[in-house]
Amino acid sequence: MTREEMLNSVKANVENNNLVKHMLATEAIMRSLARRLGEDEEEWGLTGLLHDIDMELTGGDMNNHSKLGADLARELGASEATAHAILCHNETHGVPLETKLDKALFCVDPLTGLIIAAALVRPNKRLAGLETRSVKKKFKEKSFAAGVNRQQISQCSQVGLELDEFIELGLEAMKGIAADLGL
Ligand SMILES: [Fe+2]
Repeated sequence: MTREEMLNSVKANVENNNLVKHMLATEAIMRSLARRLGEDEEEWGLTGLLHDIDMELTGGDMNNHSKLGADLARELGASEATAHAILCHNETHGVPLETKLDKALFCVDPLTGLIIAAALVRPNKRLAGLETRSVKKKFKEKSFAAGVNRQQISQCSQVGLELDEFIELGLEAMKGIAADLGL
């Protein structure tokens, strides 16, 4: 299945446009991270694109979320590595992060939320002009976008990136698809 077909499948299963955008943002950062680390860009991108495909189908039931997602990803033809990364990105299942791909999805997932929140408080509500140091500052302000798990983002060290580089890479990747994100 092509990337476009997978995106269509995401859209068929997810009504909330913000959730679709979250997956597009995750895809963009995962691609960029794969490029940086010399990993499989296609596989890492699809992992990001598909990772929350079951969110509405499971109705917020965290005991099911990502189990169904991993199954759906397999049905769409994604690799076993992708299915595993999707399964363990939900800590509820207690499946340990094993591969670099598992660890990457885990830390990229909350980074998208921090960057979107940082863009939305700017006067123009856009990513253009948003700087890494502003996002870093927001990272340190615990009350800002309090639902964003900082500790999870910090696990970028597990894939070999410093927090600053990670935020910069994520921000640049999201700027690259700003139009798709409506930001
Ligand atoms: Fe997510």
